[in-house]
Amino acid sequence: MNIPASEFARRRRQLMRIMGTDSIAIMPAAMPSPRNRDVEYPFRQDSDFLYLTGFSEPEAVMVLVPGRRNCQYILFCRERDPVMETWHGRRAGLEGAMELYGADDAFPIGDIDDILPGLLEDRERVYYTMGRDLEFDNHLMGWVNQIRSHARSGSHPPHEFITLEYLVHEMRLFKSRAEIKMMREAARVAMQAHRRAMEKCRPGKYEYEIEAEYLYEFRRHNMEPAYPSIVGGGENACILHYTENTEPLNDGDLLLIDAGAESQGYASDITRTFPVNGRYSPAQKAIYELVLKAQKAAISKVRPGNHWNDPHIAAVRTLTRGMVELGLLKGRPADLVKKEEYRKFYMHRTGHWLGLDVHDVGDYKIDDQWRLLEPGMVLTVEPGLYIPAGSRGVSRKWWDIGVRIEDDVLVTQTGCEVLTADLVKEVDEIEALMAGQDASLVRAVKKKAARKKVTRAGKKKAVKKKQVRKRA
Ligand code: GLY
Ligand code: MN
Ligand code: MN
Repeated sequence: MNIPASEFARRRRQLMRIMGTDSIAIMPAAMPSPRNRDVEYPFRQDSDFLYLTGFSEPEAVMVLVPGRRNCQYILFCRERDPVMETWHGRRAGLEGAMELYGADDAFPIGDIDDILPGLLEDRERVYYTMGRDLEFDNHLMGWVNQIRSHARSGSHPPHEFITLEYLVHEMRLFKSRAEIKMMREAARVAMQAHRRAMEKCRPGKYEYEIEAEYLYEFRRHNMEPAYPSIVGGGENACILHYTENTEPLNDGDLLLIDAGAESQGYASDITRTFPVNGRYSPAQKAIYELVLKAQKAAISKVRPGNHWNDPHIAAVRTLTRGMVELGLLKGRPADLVKKEEYRKFYMHRTGHWLGLDVHDVGDYKIDDQWRLLEPGMVLTVEPGLYIPAGSRGVSRKWWDIGVRIEDDVLVTQTGCEVLTADLVKEVDEIEALMAGQDASLVRAVKKKAARKKVTRAGKKKAVKKKQVRKRA
């Protein structure tokens, strides 16, 4: 399952419409990054480049020249080369760039110095993102200066430079049907991995052994981690970006795992926090239930028309009230929220955009105002509480409790859809799953009981109404 070539073409057309004729867009692919002698880190295409081309090879440059007859999308890339392909792997080549990736024309990357100045000439505006690839910035300046130096023979260099990423990032913020499908896949596999981790977790295992369960589940679905997995037991759960994952898991501790899969470039981002031995202690349960309540309050604020910060406000209000009730904070909740006292135990924000990047692109504010949520946006909702040992004025029973609960949420026409809703997060569901029971049964029984309660309440109301009518 892939994003179809027609969708990449649609994105490029949309971008070219916004740019207007008289302009040119230039975007280089990501640079490979060296790990040590002769070894590179696994290559990951630049997300903007991937979004517009679907082309995942290095040493490539995308050029869009709107309004040009026949040839508006040009891809510079590596040529086919049997020797190089024997050593380093397959290449699409110039033909592949056109046939598989929809380029109107393709040229060898080595010829770019000869061809690009001609494409720049007589274009008024250059859409290009400066400062991301300094080597390429210099190339571009070189090509522009080359045209300048021929000014007396009538050459006309472009005189307006506009950042390209802003336009692309606004487009990326709104996910298409195909992108949402991809994100559902990434979420599905990540949920499966989290379930597997809960089933495999035992006191005495090491954090890296649990991390391995994620890697196994991701890779067997041809996915990879969308970011380094955070697998933190006990005090490590209180380190927000803990990625060492080297410590043993102790009986009686919590384990916080923040891990997501990436499918065809699209990320999922999920956190669950569960007890290493399968049962939450009363103190762990109290903190967990509070974070869960805050997460639900935040999710209930995800709907079109609400602004970006509404879920965060709901989360901090719920967390602050709860912390006062538990004795972690003292004072009036409204004052504590105003003074941001919650930051002592909740020091991050409640979410971020999610997409090709785990912390995806797109502005959070427009003209200094929080942006309104709109259908097609995807965000995470991930409140937490972190109480490291030694926290001043805090009873020892709360020490080393770190909890975060994170789900991926799509804004729909009428509200929202939690893309990761199938993964257990209620205390009894998690405990059931860890005890080898069917957690979905717990969920089903609870649903049935809730329905019964509603029916009983409805019946009571009807009887009361009848009595009132009789009396009247
Ligand atoms: N996994 C990174 C985050 O939750 O933002
Ligand atoms: Mn996360
Ligand atoms: Mn996140």
